[in-house]
Amino acid sequence: MTSDAPALEVVGLTAGYGGPPVIESVSIAANRGAITAIVGPNGAGKSTLLKAIAGLIRPTAGSVKVLGVDVTGLPAEKLVRKGVAYVPQVANVFPELTIRENLDMGGYSRKAGVRERIEQLFKLFPDLAASSHRRANTLSGGQRTMLALARGLMVDPPVLILDEPSAGLAPKFQGLIWERIEAIKATNVAVLVIEQNTRETLRHAQWAYVLVLGQNRLEGPGQKLLDDEEVVNLYVGRLS
Ligand SMILES: Nc1ncnc2c1ncn2[C@@H]1O[C@H](COP(=O)(O)OP(=O)(O)O)[C@@H](O)[C@H]1O
Ligand SMILES: [Mg+2]
Repeated sequence: MTSDAPALEVVGLTAGYGGPPVIESVSIAANRGAITAIVGPNGAGKSTLLKAIAGLIRPTAGSVKVLGVDVTGLPAEKLVRKGVAYVPQVANVFPELTIRENLDMGGYSRKAGVRERIEQLFKLFPDLAASSHRRANTLSGGQRTMLALARGLMVDPPVLILDEPSAGLAPKFQGLIWERIEAIKATNVAVLVIEQNTRETLRHAQWAYVLVLGQNRLEGPGQKLLDDEEVVNLYVGRLS
């Protein structure tokens, strides 16, 4: 383990659902204090890649390292302790619990400092602080997504993995979600994200990987990929 190792380093990862592999020999890295994006057409295997990294499905080849430590094949609940928080596409919060109770649950693996961490996160998510006693099932979709992000952050993870955080939300929330993601990045987290709006995603990404048919196709700074019309037309598809 070296201090200059990327927060997350994935090498030659192959995974699927029992049939032929959905992603094959995919390699990516994500650094702290940066937004790293995975873009590519629908069905390219972006979500599958995130699930294989986050321990929801077991890779059949390749490796995943967090801060230089091999965590390949660890189940999700163990990966949380190794510093990987994964927020799935459908925000899974406990509907009957309040915002604060949800955050308490998110901090279950912390040894101490749950209350302090909640206060830090309330600074990052002022909209949650204002309604901390409300039950999750009374929140709007946007607020629920914010809660899911905050809950993932309760363990102070070096790596935060987000699968389409703005999916299903009104367009007005998309800007807000990016604002929060930028704020999370500024706390030295390595953010690995898939989003539906490719143009917006590339604008925010210090580094982006284009995944096509389950394989690495190309990579580069988000803005650079965005400026390359051929890249956009061939691999990213029509931009929204
Ligand atoms: N739970 C699953 N079981 C079997 N096949 C799946 C499952 N989830 C996704 N797939 C298949 O894996 C491929 C990639 O899907 P996915 O990773 O969701 O792509 P993306 O996120 O890029 O749209 C698709 O062909 C999809 O049908
Ligand atoms: Mg997906």
